[in-house]
Amino acid sequence: MDVGFIGTGSMGSLLIRSLVRYGALRPGAVWAANRTPAKLERLASEVPGVHPAPAREVVRRCPLVFLCVKPGETGAALEEVGDDLTPDHLLVILSNMLPLEAVEARTAARVAKVIPSLAHQVGGGVALIMYGNRVRPADRQRLERLLAPIARPLVIREHQGRTAADITSCGPAFLACVLQAMARAAAEAQPDLPLPVAEALVRETALATARLLAEDGMTFDEVIARISVPGGITAEAVRLLAEQVPAAWEAVFRTTREVEEEKRRRLRL
Ligand SMILES: NC(=O)c1ccc[n+]([C@@H]2O[C@H](COP(=O)([O-])OP(=O)(O)OC[C@H]3O[C@@H](n4cnc5c(N)ncnc54)[C@H](OP(=O)(O)O)[C@@H]3O)[C@@H](O)[C@H]2O)c1
Repeated sequence: MDVGFIGTGSMGSLLIRSLVRYGALRPGAVWAANRTPAKLERLASEVPGVHPAPAREVVRRCPLVFLCVKPGETGAALEEVGDDLTPDHLLVILSNMLPLEAVEARTAARVAKVIPSLAHQVGGGVALIMYGNRVRPADRQRLERLLAPIARPLVIREHQGRTAADITSCGPAFLACVLQAMARAAAEAQPDLPLPVAEALVRETALATARLLAEDGMTFDEVIARISVPGGITAEAVRLLAEQVPAAWEAVFRTTREVEEEKRRRLRL
């Protein structure tokens, strides 16, 4: 099956590169359009078998189309492809800000939403999937099978999208930020431990901790308990973190919700 992409910016190119790299799409099965042709031509020269084409042609050739434009660009992109999007198409949008119902009202296609993650670049992370009212069982199977080689596909309800996406899609940035702060604080606490060394220590420790959780199946509590001997140094520091960290995460989840609501109010589809 040929798969189309309208928009080859950050997420469009990430999806194309990852799906081709992990064998989910055979070379030659990708049709892609982008507003600025030079960006698409560069991608096509790097990824084998990507056919650059105008958006209308992408839609005419592909029964499954990923619309990878910014939320504010969605209305114009839908306008451009117009009647070429038919009830035979499955259209996949990528933004939490766009309610499925609102997009369904603008197109005859069946509509689904996928919130991708930078983690797909290494064949990992969770791809959140939400389905519109017109989607059929065969669409679900096709979409989830397509994404499985690059991600763990997880179907959720649309109202769960914001917070779930904070974890899966914003998550790599949040965790990188937290780990970077750990390395910087360590280098400050111990000036003869240079920052690059502290960063390397943090990176290796984070990778191994992820493996303990994933490969050994340890829970967060088990990891904490194994290292924090009651009355010991780690236990005292863990107590401090348990006091201070929840407030920071609460503020993170509150902020993303507030910013999204504000952006939604200004969005015209
Ligand atoms: N970035 C993330 O980490 C992330 C994570 C999850 C979900 N998302 C969602 O993914 C979607 C895309 O975001 P992004 O970060 O990939 O944005 P982006 O980097 O700005 O890419 C958007 C691309 O769409 C192209 N475009 C705009 N209008 C078009 C049209 N009418 N026809 C063809 N191409 C068009 C743009 O072309 P130009 O080259 O001319 O600019 C640009 O290359 C958004 O809905 C966003 O909310 C993003």
